[in-house]
Amino acid sequence: MCGIVGYIGNKKASPILLNGLSYLEYRGYDSAGIAVIEVNDIVVKKDKGRVKNLSSLNGINELKSSIGIAHTRWATHGKPSMENSHPHMDNSSTFCVVHNGIIENYNELKEFLISKGYNFISQTDTEVIPNLIHYHYYNKCKSSENRFLCAVKSAINDLVGSYALEIISNLYPDRIIVVRKDSPLVIGKSENENYISSDIPAILSYTKNFYLLDDNEFAVIYNDHIDFFDENLCMHNKEIKNIEWSASAADKNGFEDYMLKEIYEQPQAIRETIGTKLSNETSCLFDDLKISADYLKTINKIYIVACGTAMHAGLVGKTLFEKLCKIQTEVDIASEFRYRNPIIDDKTLCIYISQSGETADTIAALKLAKLNGARTLAISNVIGSSITREADYTIYTHAGPEIAVASTKAYTSQVVLIAILAIFFAELLGSCDKNIISELKSDIIELPIKIEELLNNVDKIKEFAKTVYTQKDMFFLGRGIDYCTAMEGSLKLKEISYIHSEAYASGELKHGPIALIENGIIVIGIITDSNLVEKSISNLQEVITRGAKTLIITNQNIGNLNFDNVINIPSTNALISPILAIIPLQLLSYYISKNKGLDVDKPRNLAKSVTVE
Ligand code: M6R
Repeated sequence: MCGIVGYIGNKKASPILLNGLSYLEYRGYDSAGIAVIEVNDIVVKKDKGRVKNLSSLNGINELKSSIGIAHTRWATHGKPSMENSHPHMDNSSTFCVVHNGIIENYNELKEFLISKGYNFISQTDTEVIPNLIHYHYYNKCKSSENRFLCAVKSAINDLVGSYALEIISNLYPDRIIVVRKDSPLVIGKSENENYISSDIPAILSYTKNFYLLDDNEFAVIYNDHIDFFDENLCMHNKEIKNIEWSASAADKNGFEDYMLKEIYEQPQAIRETIGTKLSNETSCLFDDLKISADYLKTINKIYIVACGTAMHAGLVGKTLFEKLCKIQTEVDIASEFRYRNPIIDDKTLCIYISQSGETADTIAALKLAKLNGARTLAISNVIGSSITREADYTIYTHAGPEIAVASTKAYTSQVVLIAILAIFFAELLGSCDKNIISELKSDIIELPIKIEELLNNVDKIKEFAKTVYTQKDMFFLGRGIDYCTAMEGSLKLKEISYIHSEAYASGELKHGPIALIENGIIVIGIITDSNLVEKSISNLQEVITRGAKTLIITNQNIGNLNFDNVINIPSTNALISPILAIIPLQLLSYYISKNKGLDVDKPRNLAKSVTVE
């Protein structure tokens, strides 16, 4: 839940570290710090607050070193403060560490170290690590040939939890040691310089060649080479990957905020996600997905497991798999699934959706299914992310880097990919009428143009945002597939505008929540399923009668009724209508947040990838 960057080479490290941190702020932004080795001494500059505060700290521009590590924090142990900010040093200022993750047994380790005479300055779990390294360096590893690495490895052996770590030492000013377990870390290779980061976009402007570090793998990084070691410290060669994303994919490209840029990138993200997998002429094809019709015939249940927005994409997936493949499909929140002993066996296919591929609960839920004999399929936007390494099968959305905390283009790309997957399964199983599939394919292919149409007509939603941004509560109502859109619309509003909102299946409202409807409250209704138009309208009339002001998002003929605002969206197959219906709602949240003067891309208390439980 934090971001880490590192650099070793022949350039000044500090500007590179600060630049990398600014890209990683989406992972946490309550404090930031860097450490470099200046003439055999480690110099640390850190403080609470954002990276721009760090950039203006006294002396930071004078740092000359070309080796350094850096961190932007999302506090878990200890409030945001200078002392709790990373990097952390051991008592003798010999070893310096930045850490993303959580050390679960830090109290026990702290007690052990205190008994050996070590002191602690911070309340963090991380501070035990440099001190443990120091302890092992001067005890267990005294006569080791590779003493620094031995001390790091011995410290790691003591840790329970998750970590991506960068470690420097003034005794070894020519190297950075990194290791990871259940937290992401990539190494970017260039000519006589190497970069380290929690994600690829942060260092994409420097290189396109990456090593994706595995769990329990160590790398000792010098400016001109990198040595990789497995968990037993045996050296091995590692394959380098070329990442095709363009560097500008991680920039705002003239947009005021990443979220707005990403909303406008949706047509392209969907085109890329469709790629060559779907066409009107042939059956759907996933190049690397070796799932056979024989295997699919043995499945009696699909589970879709994810968190937040990705889970909402899964809810749309449920309808798609049940309608097209006739396979019972359940959707679960990963943090619930992993602790409720779900009934899974070798006849269950478990699908995990995660933009980042690093969400701790989703990864744990995947491991659980594997233990119970189910096959697992990951849907991720990040090549080589943790979830893709664990799953039996992986398919990727091609949305490009998503930086804003609020997910937009990843969501619509996920729904598109799941729709194509459901068609692929249905074609293998022969479970759906060919004409229905053919029409659905055409509708999917037309989505990017229809989204462009929506994005070219935003005035109405902008105006509406101006009239409602001071509201305290809002309701989102929908039936059937529109209920999925209501949930996603409500989540978007909550997270970036801090307006309390609830999503309800319209028919459920009268079983309690309608008591909350009072004069002037805003109710947003979504109506895209022709079979449910009358029923949805009746439910909305019930709230209008009780004083609600309404905004309707629809592609149906709803007549000339007493709705206050109507946004017409292009018509499409109801199964994929959430992809179009969510666009005005993403924009609504965005403009409400802007009207309130909030930080759209970095809403309070949140981080982009939730790599802790
Ligand atoms: O990276 P993931 O897709 O696994 O993330 C899951 C959720 O944390 C994420 O979708 C979250 O709900 C977003 N902030 C919503 O906009």
